[in-house]
Amino acid sequence: MKILLTGGAGYIGTHTAVQFVAAGHSVVLLDSLVNSRPEVVARVERIVGHSLAYYTGDCADPKLLDQIFTDHDIDVVVHFAGLKAVGESVEQPLRYYRNNLDCALTLCEVMEARGVRRLVFSSSASVYGTPEQVPIPETASLHAANPYGATKLFVERILADLAVANPAWHIVALRYFNPIGAHPSGLIGEDPQGIPNNLFPYIAQVAAGRRDKLRVFGDDYPTPDGTGVRDYLHVMDLADGHVAAVEHIADQAGWRGYNLGTGQGVSVLESVRTFEQATGSHVPYEVVPRRPGDIAECYADPTRAREELGWVARRTIAEACADAWRWQRENPNGYAAD
Ligand code: NAD
Ligand code: UD1
Repeated sequence: MKILLTGGAGYIGTHTAVQFVAAGHSVVLLDSLVNSRPEVVARVERIVGHSLAYYTGDCADPKLLDQIFTDHDIDVVVHFAGLKAVGESVEQPLRYYRNNLDCALTLCEVMEARGVRRLVFSSSASVYGTPEQVPIPETASLHAANPYGATKLFVERILADLAVANPAWHIVALRYFNPIGAHPSGLIGEDPQGIPNNLFPYIAQVAAGRRDKLRVFGDDYPTPDGTGVRDYLHVMDLADGHVAAVEHIADQAGWRGYNLGTGQGVSVLESVRTFEQATGSHVPYEVVPRRPGDIAECYADPTRAREELGWVARRTIAEACADAWRWQRENPNGYAAD
C-alpha cells in the first residue's frame, strides 16, 4: 500500500515510516516542521536505505494536499500532524484548536473529494481524562481535561460522524498511552525542544548530565510506591500498531477506537530504577509536590487491539531505556547538530 503520513517527520511518524517500509509498504511524508527538523528525513532514509517522498507544508493547506493526492496514488492516510504539548495547549487554546481541528477537517475534505476513505488517526489516552477504572477499556467514558485532549476528543467525534454519514469510510482511532524509546539504530528518536515535559526524555537528559536531577512529581498518590503510574510502550511497538491497523482497515468499515498500550502500569520510581539498570547510568532525583492536572494511574486494557488487530506490545521497558539511551548518547543535542 501507499501510505501518506501527515506529521511524518515527528517522533512517532518517523518510527512508523520505518516500520511501514519494513513491512513492504511505501510512504509519503508531509510535515510543516513546526515541531521537527528537515534533517530527520535524511535519517529515516538512511535506515530504510532509499529516498522517500517528502513534502514540507501545512496539513491544513488544501492545495498542498490536493497536489500530494495528484502526485501519488494514496491508499491510506495516517494522520499524526498536530500540536501535542498539554501545558502549551492550556496557554494557547486557540492555536491548538485551530491547528489540530483544521488539519483533520481539511484532510478529510480532500480525502472525500479524492475518494480516499481509509484513515488512521493518532488519538491519545488523554481522551479518558481522569479514568474511572484501570486498566482502561475503550468503552470507558471520555472527558477532556485540557485543550489538547479536547482536540483529540473532537476529532474522534468528527471522524465517527463522518463514518456514519458515509459508510464508505474506514476509520481507526489509535489511542496511544505513553510512547518511549527510540529506533535501535540510534539514528532517530524523541527530540524535545527545551526542557522535556515527559518523564523518559527528562530521565535520559539527567543520566547524560544535561540536567542536575529528576523532579518526581509527588509520592503521595494512592499507588504502590506513591508515585504516578503510567503505561509506557516502546515507540517501535507503537509503530507496529500502525502497521497492524493499516493492514486491517480494508476489512473494517466505519469508525473504531483502539488502545495501544502494554496493559502494565509502571511507577515513576520503577521507571528510574529500570533506566538505571538497563543503561548502567545514575539518575539522581528528588521528590517535589504533585504536578497540577496529573492523575494517579493510567494504563490500558489492550485486549481489543490484540483480538481485532492482532497487535500486542512485545518490547520491554528495559529495551526502550537502552534504545533511548543510545539515541541520547549518540545525539546529545538531538537533530540540531546535523
Ligand atoms: P511530534 O510533535 O514529534 O510529531 C507531530 C508532527 O506534526 C511534528 O513533526 C509537527 O511538525 C507536525 N505538525 C504539527 N502541525 C502540523 C501541521 N499543521 N501541518 C503539518 N505538520 C504538522 O509528536 P509525536 O509524539 O510524534 O505525536 C504524533 C501524534 O501522536 C500527535 O498527533 C500527538 O498528539 C499524538 N500523540 C502523541 C503522544 C506522545 O506521547 N508522543 C501520545 C498520544 C498521542
Ligand atoms: C503526558 C501528557 C498526556 C500525554 C502523555 C503521553 C501532561 C499533563 N499530559 O502525560 O496528555 O498523553 O504525556 O505522552 O503533560 N513525571 C515526573 N517528573 C517529570 C516528568 C514526569 O515525576 O519531570 C511523572 C508524572 O507526574 C507522571 C509520570 O512521570 O506520573 C509520566 O509523566 P509524563 O511523561 O509527562 O506523561 P503523562 O503524565 O502520562
